[in-house]
Amino acid sequence: MKSSELRQSFLSYFESKQHQVVESSSLIPGNDPTLLFTNAGMVQFKDVFLGTDKRNYTRATTSQRCVRAGGKHNDLENVGYTARHHTFFEMLGNFSFGDYFKQDAIGYAWEFLTKVAKLPQEKLLVTVYAEDDEAFDIWHKEIGLPKEKIIRIGDNKGARYASDNFWQMGDTGPCGPCTEVFYDHGEHIWGGPPGSPEEDGDRFIEIWNVVFMQFNRSANGDMAPLPKPSVDTGMGLERIAAILQGVHSNYEIDLFQNLIKASANAVGTNDLESQSLRVIADHIRSCSFMIVDGVVPSNEGRGYVLRRIIRRAIRHGNKLGQKGVFFHTLVEALDSEMGEAYPELRKLKERVASILLKEEEQFAKTLDQGMRILEEAISELGDSKVIPGETVFKLYDTYGFPADLTNDVARENELEIDEAGFEAAMEEQRARARSASNFSMDMSGDVSIDSETEFTGYTELEGDCVVEALIVDGSNVDEIQAGQDAVVLLKSTPFYGESGGQAGDQGWLRGPGAFKVSNTAKQGKAHLHQGVLKEGAIKVGDTVAAQVDRSMRNATALNHSATHLVHEALRRIVGDHVNQKGSLVNAERLRFDFSHFEGLTNAEIEQVEDMVNEQIRLNHEVITEIMDVDSAKEKGAMALFGEKYDSEVRVLTMGADYSIELCGGTHVKRTGDIGLFKIVTEGGIAAGVRRIEAVTGKAAIDAVRQTENALNGVAAVVKGNKENALEKVSALNDQARALQKEIDALKSKLAAAAGSDLAGQAIDIEGGKLLVAQVESDPKALRDLLDQLKSKLESAVILLAAVNDGKVSLIAGVTKELTKKVKAGDLIKMVAPLVDGKGGGRPDMAQAGGNNPAALPDALEQVPAWVKERI
Ligand code: ALA
Repeated sequence: MKSSELRQSFLSYFESKQHQVVESSSLIPGNDPTLLFTNAGMVQFKDVFLGTDKRNYTRATTSQRCVRAGGKHNDLENVGYTARHHTFFEMLGNFSFGDYFKQDAIGYAWEFLTKVAKLPQEKLLVTVYAEDDEAFDIWHKEIGLPKEKIIRIGDNKGARYASDNFWQMGDTGPCGPCTEVFYDHGEHIWGGPPGSPEEDGDRFIEIWNVVFMQFNRSANGDMAPLPKPSVDTGMGLERIAAILQGVHSNYEIDLFQNLIKASANAVGTNDLESQSLRVIADHIRSCSFMIVDGVVPSNEGRGYVLRRIIRRAIRHGNKLGQKGVFFHTLVEALDSEMGEAYPELRKLKERVASILLKEEEQFAKTLDQGMRILEEAISELGDSKVIPGETVFKLYDTYGFPADLTNDVARENELEIDEAGFEAAMEEQRARARSASNFSMDMSGDVSIDSETEFTGYTELEGDCVVEALIVDGSNVDEIQAGQDAVVLLKSTPFYGESGGQAGDQGWLRGPGAFKVSNTAKQGKAHLHQGVLKEGAIKVGDTVAAQVDRSMRNATALNHSATHLVHEALRRIVGDHVNQKGSLVNAERLRFDFSHFEGLTNAEIEQVEDMVNEQIRLNHEVITEIMDVDSAKEKGAMALFGEKYDSEVRVLTMGADYSIELCGGTHVKRTGDIGLFKIVTEGGIAAGVRRIEAVTGKAAIDAVRQTENALNGVAAVVKGNKENALEKVSALNDQARALQKEIDALKSKLAAAAGSDLAGQAIDIEGGKLLVAQVESDPKALRDLLDQLKSKLESAVILLAAVNDGKVSLIAGVTKELTKKVKAGDLIKMVAPLVDGKGGGRPDMAQAGGNNPAALPDALEQVPAWVKERI
């Protein structure tokens, strides 16, 4: 059975069991800051398991694209060297949200494997969590598996619930005991059953994990029961395909064989067994799909993982002898294999290839730059034969220059690298990364907030509200006193909680006390009013009059509505590949990040401004409707890529044929309220991501006026007016350039004259000249002077010194022929200590600094004798 047929037959089987076939979600988990990439089928259903999200189905099935590279489930380093590790794979899964539980979950798995996939029963065995008698009994009594084929696995990894048969999504989130189905590849392959000392062998391979979701694990390790016991299963498509196609390694299945052939072609090798080809074939999948889902190579977060994988692929291509770019050409082969099942890949393949090509080209530059830095570092080594770990790390971390390359270069120069120092620096880096990845901020401290605040702020900006809870320093309190910082939770509120890029509201809660709200945050569905109690006291149960700061809210609304208008304008003017990458709207301005590969031209910026202002003047009514997601999609609403929405969504329309977007924010009544829209900056913030900042309403008028004032100021300085200021400034500019040219010419005349003078001071030595001189020069120009003298004297040993700001700069140069006898590096090492300095360098050129100018004349006097001794 081909991989594509298998994928379809799995989904069809579960569809026939009343499961909703749900599309694979993006690799970027919507709304889940705890996770780098979607790494299992359950990710898009996390909140459904937790009970905070509802769907109109209770059974679902998916073929989910997954990446395991970074984070808790990370397989990157193993890829290529084992039969079954991938950075990217597809997970087939079926899910029950409080519907069926253990019995049906096991029944379906067994039926699919033995009846649909027709695997021989005697080849299958299972594991259950040691304490799970229920699962054991279902396998034994209902399915009829003999007891010896049901292996109990306990907390075999040390801690409570740390078990191969207790699945956890991450350090927090839904989890539960699981039962796993294994396939016995036969005695001819080494390995033992799960739980045995030989379990790591390749004979018994896990094919399906059926998780009984029962708990929500919190950061402190507590296991809270889920609202309803549920089921989450996962079967790697590539593994089961391998079994059905009678091959042992995933890389031998149809899909991979084609990719491996294409990779071999692209790098120009015939060795189809090469592990490097497997790496490349694996990596083109993860890299392409990450880009499809909006990741672009960068130096942090997801973009950095992508960059590392691309570079790993390129390195393996290089290893096979491919020195040019090749990786991007494989997108075409990937499309042939997977484009049918993933139309998003087909649609974006050209872009994917162009991003990969750019990265390949840039990496070539990185290699160049890295080599230069490395050579410099080597020239400064002096007597040492070891490149410091810090240098290797800096090259790797800052310049993206792989450590194994540094190692190669070191070997060529008969040097070593300080592995231990490098590892230590890496470990420090990992520790930093770990602490940086715990970035989800928990404003409520230890208090778990599961309440839902009713939001009345779409229509009201004031109202009487009941205090539901008060939090001070992360603990619930009954009452707060004047002067205390606190978080206030209300049963209902007109205050908008920061979300969807829109800033939280500010304002006052007044009752028995006056609480100044400096920000409103959102956690789950609760609105958290953060601020300080200015006077009086407030108790839980009190009623307060909530008053949102109107002028801020209104100014924010102008910016938010304008964001929708600009989003659509960009899609129409720049192209429909423009996707929102982030946004921020507050009372001052709007910021909109979007995917696009080059800077907007001035003409494009004007077009965007014109289109938005035209939509403002059309004065569309802003219409809000609540509907289910499918109807919203039908209506053509633009949803954000990878974003997760409730089943009921708000659809915002500004001009029926202009902008329709899903949005929970607050907006103007009519687009005319925005008044005026003006872009103030446009620039790149990461490869492939641009940012526009713009202002609206009064702020837009202020911005225009500010520009006008600036121009008036310039006009005044050049004694002109608005009309002729440009002309006058460019005339001044031309004049300055001409003067600079003249100065440069004079300077080089002077230098040449000085050079000739100096050359005249050289004395004869065996085989050439010796020149030792103190000169007037800034340290940077010494190098040029040295080069000049070297070519003038043809065969010479030269030492120049200059004193600037109490510091000595030394440079030594030896022409090629003479380096056999005198090395510039050695000369510098002799002189530098005499002026309290140190330095070193290559045989033909070396530099040093020193702190004792007074000692310089004596030091220079030593040179002739030292040189003559060696000639
Ligand atoms: N979520 C489970 C896994 O990834 C099925 O193994």
